[in-house]
Amino acid sequence: MDMKIAVIRGDGIGPEIVNEAIKVLDRVCSVYSHKIDYTDVLMGGASIDVHGTSLTDEAIETCKASDAVLMGSIGGDPNTSPWYKIEPSKRPEAGLLKIRKSLNLFANLRPAVLFPQLADACPLKREMADKGFDMLIMRELTGGLYFGERKTVTENGIVTAIDTLKYSETEIRRIAIKAFEVARARKNKVTSVDKANVLDSSRLWRKTVNEVAEDYPDVTLEHMLVDNCAMQLVKDPTQFDVILTENMFGDILSDEASMVTGSIGMLASASMNDSKFGLYEPSHGSAPDIAGLNIANPLATILSAAMMLRFSFGLGNEADAIERAINKVLDEGFRTGDIFVEGLKKVSCSQMGDLVTERI
Ligand code: IPM
Ligand code: MG
Repeated sequence: MDMKIAVIRGDGIGPEIVNEAIKVLDRVCSVYSHKIDYTDVLMGGASIDVHGTSLTDEAIETCKASDAVLMGSIGGDPNTSPWYKIEPSKRPEAGLLKIRKSLNLFANLRPAVLFPQLADACPLKREMADKGFDMLIMRELTGGLYFGERKTVTENGIVTAIDTLKYSETEIRRIAIKAFEVARARKNKVTSVDKANVLDSSRLWRKTVNEVAEDYPDVTLEHMLVDNCAMQLVKDPTQFDVILTENMFGDILSDEASMVTGSIGMLASASMNDSKFGLYEPSHGSAPDIAGLNIANPLATILSAAMMLRFSFGLGNEADAIERAINKVLDEGFRTGDIFVEGLKKVSCSQMGDLVTERI
């Protein structure tokens, strides 16, 4: 198969981890006789340095002309980086939001899996870690507080900031359908998370999800308030299969879910629209404090590349091969610093990429 992939290396550890994912993809291409044509696209601070803004229209067009986008991470340290001295709409994170919106990537799939080999890194009680867990957060990605009207005004001499949380039935329905579809291929359970005891947008969310659920009688639906969900995630994550939630709640809960897996360095993600097109990136950030040190964990990005092969190109066997190789490397005791425990073998970012590549 011929694949056209736009590559956003981004900032911080982004370029290092993307290098390792590309190493792995190149290996998949040679073993399974595929061809990938990569086009580099600037986004985030890397784009600000060249164009004065974090995402240009040309960059969006290049992504649109590709079959999928593979991304590292964007952003720097807001306290020290010059990227945060320019107006908010041009800063690194604004580029990420703009690309999500421009490509209509409304469905963000964030699997949180506890690899049994990493049970020691799991901060939960041993009995819980031993049970293992495998959930997927289906986060709505192009609505809610992130994209509602916002402004800062002065009212009666007092500076006041306003952000708007808005959802339409259409936006809720399409993400709910994605969640139920995904649940069917998993353990047939959807937990829809909202704050329906307070917010109108959540009450509409719950009503619409209930309507969609009627078309999926084989999938169990439960509703959970977001504060309770935050608690349940650390109490007993084994109860979850698919967590369906809006943009801001999904942002927060996915970081929490990642930490119970032991490390955010293991969490992949896919952001999809209604076609097979997707943007694939690790769920973690750009970690500017360790950038350039070759110690970052590239596995979340490599797992994201596997998701890309599976979802955008239908190459399930190739995706399986990558996941098997990662499991093998972990079985053999190799760990980057974030998941390292005494007695195992500590490796660098590029060594981890090599180890996975060699096992495909
Ligand atoms: C994420 C990140 C982004 C978000 C930031 C970088 C804007 O935290 O992908 O989870 O809030 O969506
Ligand atoms: Mg986040």
